[in-house]
Amino acid sequence: MFRNFKIVSNVIFGRGCFNQLDDILASRRTGDDTFVVFLADHVFRENEPFKARIPVRGRDMVIFVNTDDEPKTAGVDALVAQIRAACDRLPAGVIGIGGGSTMDMAKAVALLLTNPGSAADYQGWDLIRHPAVWHAGIPTLSGTGAEVSRTTVLTGPEKKLGINSDYTLFDQMVLDPELLAGVPPEQRFYTGMDCYIHCVESLTGTYLNTFSQSYGEKAMELCLEVFLEAPPDSDDKLMMASYFGGMSIAYSQVGVCHALSYGLAFVLGLHHGIGNCVAFDCLEEFYPEGVREFRQMMNEHHIELPRNLVSSLEDHQLEKMTDVALVLEPLWENALGKDWKTIMTRDKIRELYQRM
Ligand SMILES: NC(=O)c1ccc[n+]([C@@H]2O[C@H](COP(=O)([O-])OP(=O)(O)OC[C@H]3O[C@@H](n4cnc5c(N)ncnc54)[C@H](O)[C@@H]3O)[C@@H](O)[C@H]2O)c1
Ligand SMILES: [Fe+2]
Repeated sequence: MFRNFKIVSNVIFGRGCFNQLDDILASRRTGDDTFVVFLADHVFRENEPFKARIPVRGRDMVIFVNTDDEPKTAGVDALVAQIRAACDRLPAGVIGIGGGSTMDMAKAVALLLTNPGSAADYQGWDLIRHPAVWHAGIPTLSGTGAEVSRTTVLTGPEKKLGINSDYTLFDQMVLDPELLAGVPPEQRFYTGMDCYIHCVESLTGTYLNTFSQSYGEKAMELCLEVFLEAPPDSDDKLMMASYFGGMSIAYSQVGVCHALSYGLAFVLGLHHGIGNCVAFDCLEEFYPEGVREFRQMMNEHHIELPRNLVSSLEDHQLEKMTDVALVLEPLWENALGKDWKTIMTRDKIRELYQRM
C-alpha cells in the first residue's frame, strides 16, 4: 500500500515576501466581522519594527507565544479557550510566525478550534475528525521542517507525541529568508542540524524510496554548504533545506536519533534541536558518515555540547526516557528494519542514554 499524502497547497518564497501577507489574507477576510489570529514567537514582543509589519486589521488578535518550553497540550488548550472567549465565531485564519514551536502551536490551535476536547486526546495518528481553521506557517528559524509536515509535536501529560493528520498541514507557507536574520548562532546551528539529521535518518533508513531520496540528498547538500562554506545566500539555502528535509521524511521516517531525543525532551525538557545534537554525537555506530560530517560542522561553528546529562538521573527517570523512546515504533523500524526489537532492547537504549 502506498500512502497518498497531502502537501501544503500554497507556498510563497523570496526575500521580503512577508510583505505580501496582507494580500494573501485579503482572500480569507470575507465579511466585516472576520478576524484572524496571529501567533508570534515571544522574541518579537519588543521588536517594534517587526510588529509594525504584521498586517493586523479590524478585530484581529496578536498573541505572543512563550517558547521557553516546547509546546504542551495544556498550552494549546489555554490558547484555544482564550480565542473562544474573545469571540463567539471562529477566526478566518491562524498564522504562526516563529520557529518549530510557534508553528506547531499554530497548527494545534487551528485543529482544536474545530475539534472538541483537549489536544492530548489527539496525540497519535489520524485521530482528528474535522478540518482545521485555515492556517499559515511563517518560519523565522529554519530546520525542523514544521512548515511542511503533517504533524504538530506536543508534550502531553503522558507522552511527547505529534498530532499527525492530513488536517494538520498548513494551507499556506510564507518562506521569507530575511526573517532568519536575528537568530542567535547557536540556535541556528541546533535547528539547522535538526534538518541535517532528518536527511541522514531518511537517507539511511529502510523506508527510503526515490521520492524521499531526491528531497533528502538536496537538503543534505544544502546543509553541508550552509554550515561548512557559509555562502552569502545561506539563509535562503537553509530555508529550502528545511523544506526539502521535511519533504524527505514525509514519505520516509526519522530514526534512532529522533527516538532518543524525544526521551531527552520529555524527561529533561531538552529542546528538539540541541537534544538531537546531544543524541546524534553518540550514534557513530548507526550513522558513521553522518556523525563524522556533523562533528566537522560543530568544529567549524565552535559548538560545545552539554555533557553528562543522564549520569545523575534516577533510575525511574531513565526508565521513563526509555518508555518514551520505545513508543516510536515506526522510527525504530525505519532505522533498523522489521527485526528492530531484537537489536534495540531496553538495555541497549539505556546504554545509549548513559553515553549522553
Ligand atoms: N512539526 C514538525 O514536523 C516538527 C519537526 C521537528 C521539530 N518540531 C518541533 O519544533 C520545536 C523546535 O523548533 P525550533 O528548533 O525551530 O525552535 P523554537 O521554535 O523552539 O525556537 C527556539 C528559540 O529561537 C527563538 N527564535 C525563533 N525565531 C527567532 C528569530 N528570528 N530571531 C531570534 N530568535 C528566534 C525562539 O524565541 C526560541 O527561544 C520543538 O517543539 C519540536 O518538537 C516539529
Ligand atoms: Fe526533527
